Order: sequence, then C-alpha cells, then structure tokens
Amino acid sequence: MTEQINLSKRLETVASFVDANQLCADIGSDHAYLPCYICQQNSGARAIAGEVNAGPFNSARHTVKRLNLEKQVDVRLGDGLDILHDREIVQVVIAGMGGSLIRSILEKGMDKMGNISRIIAQPNIDGRDVREFLINHSFKIGTETIVEENGHIYEVIVAEPITDDIIIKPSEKEMLFGPLLLKKRSEIFYQKWTAERKHYQRVIEQMSKAKVKDHVKMTQYRKELEWIEEVLSDGRTDDK
Ligand SMILES: C[S@@+](CC[C@H](N)C(=O)[O-])C[C@H]1O[C@@H](n2cnc3c(N)ncnc32)[C@H](O)[C@@H]1O
Repeated sequence: MTEQINLSKRLETVASFVDANQLCADIGSDHAYLPCYICQQNSGARAIAGEVNAGPFNSARHTVKRLNLEKQVDVRLGDGLDILHDREIVQVVIAGMGGSLIRSILEKGMDKMGNISRIIAQPNIDGRDVREFLINHSFKIGTETIVEENGHIYEVIVAEPITDDIIIKPSEKEMLFGPLLLKKRSEIFYQKWTAERKHYQRVIEQMSKAKVKDHVKMTQYRKELEWIEEVLSDGRTDDK
C-alpha cells in the first residue's frame, strides 16, 4: 500500500486554502510534504515544489519518487519564484519562514505573478511584513487564521488580487495584528499577544538601559505595546 502523507496541523491548515483544481507552487518546500499531500488527496491536482538549497531539494525529490507522484509534483531547484515560467502559476504557497523573507521572495517574484489568483503565506514571525507586501501590491487579505501546535503559534494569511476599485487600506494597528485576526480575536490570538506583550516589555526595558538610545524605535515599540495592552484588556473572544 502507498504511504500516505500526514501533515502537521500547521501545514494542514495551509493546505486547506489550496484549490486543488489550480496549479500551485510551494516555494521553500523542503521535503515537498505539502504538494505531495495535495496531490495524494486529489488525483487530478498538479503542483510545483521549489527549493533553493540542494539538501531540501534532494529530500523533496526523494519524497516525490517514494510516493510515486512524479507525474503530479514537479520539483525544481532555484531561488524563489525564478523557477516558474511567466504566467505559469495561479497559486503560491510560502510557509514556515519569517515574514521578511516571504516578503522579499514575493517582491523579487512579482514578474511571475501575471496570472496569480491566490497567495497563501504562513509566516513564523513578522506577519506584518507579508501584509505590507500584499497591501502595497494590490492584494486583498481574504482570510487570516491562527493555529497553535506544540506550543508554537502560527498565522496563515490568504490573499487575492484586487479586481475592483474598492481599496480599503488597513490601519497601522490592523497591519500588526492582522485585520481579520483582530476582528475575530480567538483564544489563540490572545495567547500570542500575551506572549508578545512580555517580549515587547523586555525589549523596551533593554532599549531604555542602552547607553545610546534609539528614541524613534523606542517610541514605535511603546506605541505598539499600548495597542497590545488595549487589545488584551478587552479579553473578548469569538471562540466561545
Ligand atoms: C523552514 S523550511 C519550511 C519548509 C516548509 N515550507 C514548511 O512550511 O514546513 C524553509 C525552506 O525554505 C527554503 N528557502 C529559503 N529561501 C528560499 C528561496 N529564496 N527560494 C526557495 N526556497 C527557499 C529553505 O531551503 C528551506 O528548505
């Protein structure tokens, strides 16, 4: 019997936003688990697994071969979206990296996005960087979700190109928390920002002890800490 891929909760959540009827590229695919899972679940699905590093690229090729998915999953070696042909791709997944790396991969790959209908990003940190890319390049955040797994909390951001003239730019505060996550305020959202509050407090304390103080940065951190306090003091959750 063929081995079935079991994804982590994090990757399963990411996979749930992929439309199996449309070609999808998983950039930074590592073992190619996500594209293999999608193709195992849907025999008609096709996917591309992109990797910049030889080690994970070879792991991806081995997974695809082991699962007999060579006809469905195309593993390519290269940097970001460079591995794609013009207008080839409809959906892009970039998961398991920092938001600033995701943002730079997307920025460098803009010329390959002529036919894009969905970006699914799962930043481990700095989701704001991803949101900034999306908003600055006329994408609309259609869905945001937040999941917890083994003590880690992950945000998943799904965006589509804006097709009408209605552009609603999220506020600075919404960009930090995620406009839809802020609206919903789930239990996990509160867990994340409770931990972030501690982190912000530590950073501000360290900055205030520094011999040469970065006042601009400190002011920004203090403002964001105030937003965090505000949100946490509300304590409302729609999970119940
Ligand atoms: C931490 S792993 C995440 C793997 C998988 N996406 C996941 O979510 O479990 C990040 C992967 O991205 C790859 N990577 C980093 N920068 C990349 C780039 N510019 N283009 C393609 N792959 C990249 C790394 O080699 C690594 O295998």
